[in-house]
Amino acid sequence: MLELSDIKSSEEELQDYYAQLSAQHVTPAWIGGGISIEPHSKAVPYLWHWRDLRPQAMRAAELVGTQQAERRVLRLTNPELVGVSASNTLVANIQIVMPGEIARAHRHSAAALRLIIEGGGGYTVVNGERVPMYPGDLVLTPNWTWHDHANDTDGPMIWLDGLDTPLVRMLEAGFYEEYHQERQEFRAGANTSRWHYPMSEMRAIACYMQLLRPGKQTRACRRVCCTNYHVVEGTGYSMVGGRRLDWEDKDVFTVPTWTFTEHFNSGDRPAFLFSFSDAPVMKALSLYREEETA
Ligand SMILES: [Fe+2]
Repeated sequence: MLELSDIKSSEEELQDYYAQLSAQHVTPAWIGGGISIEPHSKAVPYLWHWRDLRPQAMRAAELVGTQQAERRVLRLTNPELVGVSASNTLVANIQIVMPGEIARAHRHSAAALRLIIEGGGGYTVVNGERVPMYPGDLVLTPNWTWHDHANDTDGPMIWLDGLDTPLVRMLEAGFYEEYHQERQEFRAGANTSRWHYPMSEMRAIACYMQLLRPGKQTRACRRVCCTNYHVVEGTGYSMVGGRRLDWEDKDVFTVPTWTFTEHFNSGDRPAFLFSFSDAPVMKALSLYREEETA
């Protein structure tokens, strides 16, 4: 007969055995970490108000130059991922470039997207192509593309940076390189759409632009991916794992993996929610699932 075995050993025997294993850098898998039947993120739902972020970005621009800071970036950090990132695998950062400033050319393994929040122009050069940056525009700098930023306008440029840096770090796959000059040359008048998705033509990549009409709400859904949101415009709130996050224009919020989320437009304007997630990674590894409430 085959059955589960029942072996009695003394606590002393076990502790002695565990100590031997420990000295050999081996760990018995049956003690310690329990089995998790579904994802539980360490990160929590959280919202950063634009009314708090913008003054701090302007203050950063007074305190630190782009000579000192490779990028003048404020990293939004989840309260449970202290000092790290907004979500488990993706950062959501605020970057500011002041009139006349450049942010020098570099490239890295982490892929980046920028959703422009404020500014009257300015541009990013991606692999020698000049890409304009207007509010609501999405600019992509994929993995290992050279990029530098310049503000040739008379007002500050502020944008949301989304990068998969935490994921790349977790995978220990990160490279970084500085360009041999501060700025890349670019062809005058060359305006390509390869890296540029104007607000009017936004399309799904790992990014989504969601329109929610006044008084409308989405169905509650949870997905195996972490998602960062930016309120392009609108007023409302999201219920995220039982927490209410009240949002208005330009706020940023984060939704951890496998957390029921629904969005409500409580204002009288259409709401535009931009979001980016690590769903493509989950799908590539066959880890993706989603579930709606009945
Ligand atoms: Fe960069």
